[in-house]
Amino acid sequence: MSTLMKSLAGLGLGAALTLTAGTAMASGSGCGTFTNADGVDEHLACSTAPIDFTNKGSLQNGAKIFMNYCAGCHSAKYVRHSRIAKDLEIPPELVEKYLMVTTDQIGDHITAEIDPEIQASWFGAAPPDLSLETRLRGDDWVYTYLLSFYEDPSRPWGANNLVLANAAMPHVLHNMQEELSQEEFESEVGDLVNFMAWMGEPARHDRQVIGFFVILFLLVLLIPVYLLNKEFWKDVK
Ligand code: HEC
Repeated sequence: MSTLMKSLAGLGLGAALTLTAGTAMASGSGCGTFTNADGVDEHLACSTAPIDFTNKGSLQNGAKIFMNYCAGCHSAKYVRHSRIAKDLEIPPELVEKYLMVTTDQIGDHITAEIDPEIQASWFGAAPPDLSLETRLRGDDWVYTYLLSFYEDPSRPWGANNLVLANAAMPHVLHNMQEELSQEEFESEVGDLVNFMAWMGEPARHDRQVIGFFVILFLLVLLIPVYLLNKEFWKDVK
């Protein structure tokens, strides 16, 4: 194999590896540790969030859950309602009627219903902005966090969390969890996290598709480049 060929192949492989590493990394370094009933520290593995940006129904349902259960306390200041309408293919009238719970202008960003600073004095911690939460923690962390609330009478709101010990956030999906089967609840939370992942990087799906074709193009280009290389050097001894 010529040096050129070797380095080109290396380049393609390197790029392909970086692409896969990117997705593998999203699962992060686990979801914390907790002390089990026997007093032994156990490592909590993250569950895999069902992310699929092509599933518009899931994203729309996630948007509905987010606006109804989360935007009371959390803002998502980098996301406009109009972008949700456009990207998730929801008619603007429906967005105005059902999703815009904290504002009346469709061009506005998602603001929290209650001022986060006031909330800091209630909960002891201000609810962070969630626009980029899945980028910060990883999709799987957020998914596992939302599935890991448990009853704990010693906490002010009667609930604690396995992933984020002594979390200041109440178990806001408690009623939903009571009403649904475990499987249905996981599916709802999955839609919610799918929507949150979309918020964090709306172009992620496009980027992955484009990335795939770029790598494919480079690999196909390798053939004429290799043949040209042979052609150029064939008379040079
Ligand atoms: C009653 C107010 C309230 C509601 C409603 C609420 N949260 Fe929270 N949330 C908080 C507070 C307060 C914190 C800070 C927790 C801490 O740091 O201990 C928090 C923290 C979080 C975190 C962890 C942030 C981090 O990286 O440490 C995530 C993720 C989160 N909330 C997601 C949600 C989602 C999704 C919903 C809707 C299902 C929601 N929250 C609804 C108050 C709320």
